[in-house]
Amino acid sequence: MLKTGSAGGPEAGNAGSRGQTGSGVYRVVVLVSGGGTNLQAIIDRVKDGSITNTEIAGVISNNKNAYALIRAEKSGIPAKCISPKDYESREIFNEKLLEAVRAYEPDLVVLAGFLVVIPPAMIAEYRNRMINIHPSLIPSFCGKGYYGLKVHEAALERGVKVVGATVHFVDEGTDTGPIILQKAVEVEQGDTPEKLQRRVMEQAEWKILPRAIDLIANGRVKVENNRTIISE
Ligand code: GRF
Repeated sequence: MLKTGSAGGPEAGNAGSRGQTGSGVYRVVVLVSGGGTNLQAIIDRVKDGSITNTEIAGVISNNKNAYALIRAEKSGIPAKCISPKDYESREIFNEKLLEAVRAYEPDLVVLAGFLVVIPPAMIAEYRNRMINIHPSLIPSFCGKGYYGLKVHEAALERGVKVVGATVHFVDEGTDTGPIILQKAVEVEQGDTPEKLQRRVMEQAEWKILPRAIDLIANGRVKVENNRTIISE
């Protein structure tokens, strides 16, 4: 689940406009809260050239102990913590978070396990320029209450045979934005929520999140009527 606030905003352009700094390189900011394995997948795919024309301009965590911050540091990527604990109110935190994102001048904001309610002003400012990874095949096991292990517990409880992950643009709803990529993963006998979570990450999340970034950075994703069109 990605929790979002509720407010409208002007329609921004489609994903794919590039180079906020005029350098021509697509600038990505990654927002994280935890271990950062999805961040690592992005870092690795930029390094090995699977994601092209892209630079990770910065990493922001709401949690100062997130291992994701160490991953960023090890790769020489600017990183900072903006924690709600350091501010008097949620409003001030929201403003500081948005300022920190803006400061990196991103073309694309990537939520990679970011466990924070996204402020409405940020959703409006980065409409069709902010993506999220969710560990299910949306619209199954998504929306309010579906996050982390809960998603995989619910899938096992229901007895589904196929699960997966989804990359989508972020809008005002909870996991309701236009879907960019999905990948299915088989449930196996003896799966626990933890085993399933790991397999969904390995087989789906770490593949489709970098792939979606590459598609967007190369201007291949358009949004029309809440659906995406991906060009060859
Ligand atoms: C992933 O399962 C992602 O789908 C979810 O949070 C988890 C983040 O893991 N939104 P990591 O921090 O990337 O290791």
